[in-house]
Amino acid sequence: MIDLAQLKDQITNKLSGITSLIDLEETKSYFLGKKGLITVAFKNLGSVEASERKLQASELNIIKNDLIDRLNNLQNEYETKQINSNLNSEKLDITLPSKKIIKGKIHPVSQVIDELTSIFSEIGFSVAEGPDIENEYNNFTALNTPEHHPARDMHDTFYLDKNKKTLLRTHTSPVQIRTMLKNKPPIKIIVPGRTYRCDSDMTHTPMFHQLEGLYVDKNINMGDLKGCLEYFLKNFFEDNKLKMRLRPSHFPFTEPSAEVDISYKIENEKIVVGEGDKWLEVLGCGMVHPNVLKNVKIDSSKFQGYAFGVGIDRLAMLKYGITDLRSFFEGDIRWLDHYGFDSNDVPTNYRGLSK
Ligand code: DAH
Repeated sequence: MIDLAQLKDQITNKLSGITSLIDLEETKSYFLGKKGLITVAFKNLGSVEASERKLQASELNIIKNDLIDRLNNLQNEYETKQINSNLNSEKLDITLPSKKIIKGKIHPVSQVIDELTSIFSEIGFSVAEGPDIENEYNNFTALNTPEHHPARDMHDTFYLDKNKKTLLRTHTSPVQIRTMLKNKPPIKIIVPGRTYRCDSDMTHTPMFHQLEGLYVDKNINMGDLKGCLEYFLKNFFEDNKLKMRLRPSHFPFTEPSAEVDISYKIENEKIVVGEGDKWLEVLGCGMVHPNVLKNVKIDSSKFQGYAFGVGIDRLAMLKYGITDLRSFFEGDIRWLDHYGFDSNDVPTNYRGLSK
């Protein structure tokens, strides 16, 4: 015989002692686990007298179901309590002031490089690069500027060794040599990059930026060069009326050579590029000298090319009205905040010219 009354008392006692979900689990297994009292009682039914067995079984079932109900209720109760206490302790204070999102700005030099890349890519130029540390041969000799040539002195070169064999490139032109040694014509590249000269004032810094252009193919002439530069300058300054002129000049690596001026006027003590009757020099250019082609093993009776070099920082100063070049490289965050560009201005800032 199983003492059902005693079992009921035990259940009541145990249930009243529950204070947590852990107690609850323990009580559950105490009665209903593998060796739990109710489980064992069911097993023992076999030894109960047949006449009593049915009644006992049904009573046991009632007790068991009642216990399961009460345990479930208690479980719900404790889980709700737990959720409420979590909600209280993890409360979000939505009245707290928000944290400011500080967005970086694009440096005007990077902005202008993006604009130039976009403008030149539209007429088939791709971007090439070369190292800042160059050898004397690529920077001068291969560019038809032999030793003792006066142009070498004009460059105020930073040499990196006593023998003057390694240097910080004084212009982006050595990338012409590197590219022509590696590739066969047609070659159509622009080369944006850092360049170095020992010089410093309002409009010069020891490190500055240039953009080189080179187009080598069959039947390239000075007219192609002029058309390309006109397209570039009008689009860059976003002014279809911009005037430009080529002035004869000299560079060792081009023949003939020219310097390019663009029109401007002074308005409210500021330079405004475009209309106007004054001239401002912006770049050097010319037809690639046959000696340069010879140095890179390109047959100058079959191929010709034009080249140009322009100061990127100077373009940025002119377009965006920045007067002191040195401020570009001082790393002052307030300056960048003022003159910098939002990241979504790149490259959509360049919208092209209306025809
Ligand atoms: N490398 C020249 C300089 O730094 C600029 C230049 C002039 C580049 C004429 C060229 C060119 O490619 O054809 O002053």
